[in-house]
Amino acid sequence: MRVLFAASEAYPLIKTGGLGDVIHGLPMALNNKGVDVRLVLPAYRSLMNKIESLQIIGRFEVAGANRTHMVQVIESRFNGTGIPLLLIDVPELFDRDGGPYLHLDGHDWPDNAERFSVFSRAVAELSMDVINSGWSADIVHCHDWQTGLVPAFLQNIPSAPKSIFTIHNLAYAGLFNYESFASLGFPPEWWSPELIEFYDSMSMLKAGILFADEVTTVSPRYAYEITTPEFGHGMDGVLRSVEHKLVGILNGIDHDTWDPQSDVTLAQNYSINSDYVAGKRANKKALFAELGLSTDKTSLEKPLLGFVGRLVEQKGIDLILELIPQLMRRHDLNIVILGSGHEHYEIELTEMMGHYPENLSVEIGYSERRAHLIEAAADLFLMPSRFEPCGLNQLYSLCYGTLPIVHYAGGLADSVVDATVENIDTRQATGFHFYTPDVDAFYGAVERALKMFQDKRLWNQLIETAMAQDFSWEHSSEDYISLYNSLDISTDAN
Ligand code: ADP
Ligand code: GLC
Repeated sequence: MRVLFAASEAYPLIKTGGLGDVIHGLPMALNNKGVDVRLVLPAYRSLMNKIESLQIIGRFEVAGANRTHMVQVIESRFNGTGIPLLLIDVPELFDRDGGPYLHLDGHDWPDNAERFSVFSRAVAELSMDVINSGWSADIVHCHDWQTGLVPAFLQNIPSAPKSIFTIHNLAYAGLFNYESFASLGFPPEWWSPELIEFYDSMSMLKAGILFADEVTTVSPRYAYEITTPEFGHGMDGVLRSVEHKLVGILNGIDHDTWDPQSDVTLAQNYSINSDYVAGKRANKKALFAELGLSTDKTSLEKPLLGFVGRLVEQKGIDLILELIPQLMRRHDLNIVILGSGHEHYEIELTEMMGHYPENLSVEIGYSERRAHLIEAAADLFLMPSRFEPCGLNQLYSLCYGTLPIVHYAGGLADSVVDATVENIDTRQATGFHFYTPDVDAFYGAVERALKMFQDKRLWNQLIETAMAQDFSWEHSSEDYISLYNSLDISTDAN
């Protein structure tokens, strides 16, 4: 089975969040199971700087915004694996400083509609082997709005591959105005509420949802939630209309990158079978030393609450900001925060650190290494997300013996088992839930956790149950393979 993976991020080449992690772990797991998978990404400047050996394997023209682009296809290997990596090289769209979606000043690139429309057209062409390489796809697996147009470009072409569209986050709908739509040369009839028009904009996400043969999202609960007005971001009606082809598959962990036993970024490795208490303590000490927090015995014995993530409304940062003063007033603990995102959160968190310099560390920025160290060092991990399609940090936390405190939503609800009396008795509890995204409920869950932290025997039981969970891609990739197998693939495509 030949599967072309199309996405806008893939760790370790380019990553802004969990999408990058998934477009690393999942293709690798599929490749290990014998799927003939290839990965296609835009040839961003920062990514090209990381690629060592490459070869130009084809050129073709693609329509852009009132102009035509020459696309060069570059081939390399993904992350030292056998997986072919194809790069869509259009220098006027991707060879620039800045992020994949944002200018260095933090604003969206003004030509994002053209950038990802051209990328999607190129992917569609490539999937049908426009460059005569001898490889065409049976299935194109597209991810998020940046690739939403691929299924639209493939519709009604008899020899086209099947398409799967995975929603990683419904909050990002890939919206652009009518002027952009008109400039990109789409069939005029696409501008209709039945097709890709969405409240007076075009939505590339909606294109993916409507035109793909199958739609998946990254947890079973989120698959249900997005069909409701509360979590549907206005798209719930559209999603209800495609319920027959909508399925939720929980993301996995890539244990090559995230495993406390072998993680090279840690001060000390540990596992469920070795002394994880001492291992976590050594990492806490190393983290505190780096952050300038006290490393004396009493400081290290206090509970440490960690947060790593994008500083956006989704993640409930406002709840964390409200929680901190209450916690600091009533408890003796430390909190470590790493993140970047909306400026007002960055400023408020930094100011908050000024009030509690001994017990609160806030680092504004992006650091893979520090994220790993926080996962290993913390006792509790905060994820008060208002909504969370899957969430990877709670999975990493479980694996690192760091108990997550989560708002009961999406993948957080699907992966963390609340420490109720019954779940503790049956040795299933792995973390703490709260059910309404407000500070009182959040505070209640944290208090519950802090109380249990005092009971070392119980705490170790919770850690061991958490660390014994298996959220590897091994299982989730099987679900994708079953889905691929369920598609009616014509065998004479190649
Ligand atoms: P989302 O994709 O919504 O951002 P996930 O929990 O699925 O949330 O994945 C977030 C990923 O991005 C994790 O690998 C997390 O460690 C990483 N991450 C987010 N912010 C930072 C940061 N400031 N520094 C390092 N890693 C980060
Ligand atoms: C999105 C979601 C996150 C998910 C990630 C990978 O960014 O916000 O919940 O884990 O994609 O699927």
